[in-house]
Amino acid sequence: MSADSHKTFYLETFGCQMNVHDSEKVIGTLVHEGYRQVETVEQADLILYNTCSIRDKAEQKVFHRLADYKKLLKQGKKFGVLGCVAQQEGEKIFERAPHVSLVCGSASYRNLPQMLAQLEAGKSEAAKPEAGSLIRITGLDDRETDKCFETEFTARTNPHRGYITIIEGCDKFCSYCVVPFTRGKERSRTAESVLAEARQMTDLGYTEIQLLGQNVNSYKDPAGKLGRGKSFSELLAAVGEVPGIRRVRFTTSHPRDFGRDIIDAIDAVPTLCDHVHLPVQSGSDRVLSAMQRLYNREQYLERIAWMKSAKREISITSDIIVGFPGETEEDFAQTLSLLDEVGYDAVFTFKYSPRPNTPSLALEDAIPDQEKSRRLELLMARQKEIQITRYKKYIGTISEVMVEGKNEARNQWIGRTSQNKTLNFTAPEDASPAIGSYVQVRATTSFPNSLLGELVV
Ligand code: 5AD
Ligand code: SF4
Repeated sequence: MSADSHKTFYLETFGCQMNVHDSEKVIGTLVHEGYRQVETVEQADLILYNTCSIRDKAEQKVFHRLADYKKLLKQGKKFGVLGCVAQQEGEKIFERAPHVSLVCGSASYRNLPQMLAQLEAGKSEAAKPEAGSLIRITGLDDRETDKCFETEFTARTNPHRGYITIIEGCDKFCSYCVVPFTRGKERSRTAESVLAEARQMTDLGYTEIQLLGQNVNSYKDPAGKLGRGKSFSELLAAVGEVPGIRRVRFTTSHPRDFGRDIIDAIDAVPTLCDHVHLPVQSGSDRVLSAMQRLYNREQYLERIAWMKSAKREISITSDIIVGFPGETEEDFAQTLSLLDEVGYDAVFTFKYSPRPNTPSLALEDAIPDQEKSRRLELLMARQKEIQITRYKKYIGTISEVMVEGKNEARNQWIGRTSQNKTLNFTAPEDASPAIGSYVQVRATTSFPNSLLGELVV
């Protein structure tokens, strides 16, 4: 489509990498339909929010945004809510934000072209008499679909790291988690189509690929029904062997489904990055059981032991929730001791937030917010100490980094190691590295979250 196309859209994305990648597909689809992406709400005819509902705070953000820009409705602009809040709240969004015209969950993005056509034609599907003359289009029905959202029109926004979805949805039903309700049941793409996309991306010059899914470890190649399906670790290895690929990452893993074969694959295929994000959520068996996580501390630590026996040092990161209903001081102490036992390189910490539809909603959210905050701070302080020690030991070592950009103000290049650590560096004027290239860097200074070093010339 031509760049001066009259229909314009603005898209803001909240939440996880899955959402970021969904947005790339949505942008590609819209551009193919003749829309042009613009940088500001003011320039756009259609304003879209791709939303996250993992915690209440994330959900509130979108309603604040909608309220902030409500006045623009008078200028004839249309508003659409996509993603997890759309799926979760459905037509209730029209009540909370009556200026919204389009509500579409992630499992219905395949139908976006038709929905956009309806929107343009001014045809409303949802028969809501009280809606007055406002157009209302919904796409919410496909949560039970077997299909993934595959499109040839993905507009990749990160020039170095290419995302590929391998599995959508989640069948785990952890008691606190809204994802099975927003993203629907698990469905895997065929290994053949994943590999075709990986090859296409190397043709475009990408050297790093990140495989995405809510639970990548339960990946099941649909071709398996015909007796020739690949397991997750086989798919991982196959992607790692695509000519031109230098780095393969994957997220997110669920400890219950995390097999030793993944470590074997990392050992065997050098392009598979030495980093695993393995959310534990809690160090207490009692809480893990209440969370319906389907593993206990010992089983989790067994997986950590596999990683520690790998040929390369594997960097391990995690997610932790504090203040789950019924979490006692003793339970929390178990989480703190787990930090020491594992030695994570990064931990994402969250206060428990009750979510609609989830089983734990029936439990009383009895831990006061102040106490949740106290635990969160203790957890972050302990983890910071651990990281200070862990990052220090890299001083003097040389790592390969991918050059992601330059911080002009500091005159430093931004680099990322295979372990997913930030290793920024200085380089002589006459040896400026190209963005997207791989160079060797010697670490000279450590911080709790990153390293600083110098280019090895
Ligand atoms: N409250 C707080 N944190 C949550 N997460 C998921 N659901 C909730 C919730 N209801 C966290 C988990 C998950 C991460 C993506 O978000 O730690 O791994
Ligand atoms: Fe948020 Fe989960 Fe939806 Fe991602 S899948 S946007 S983390 S609710």
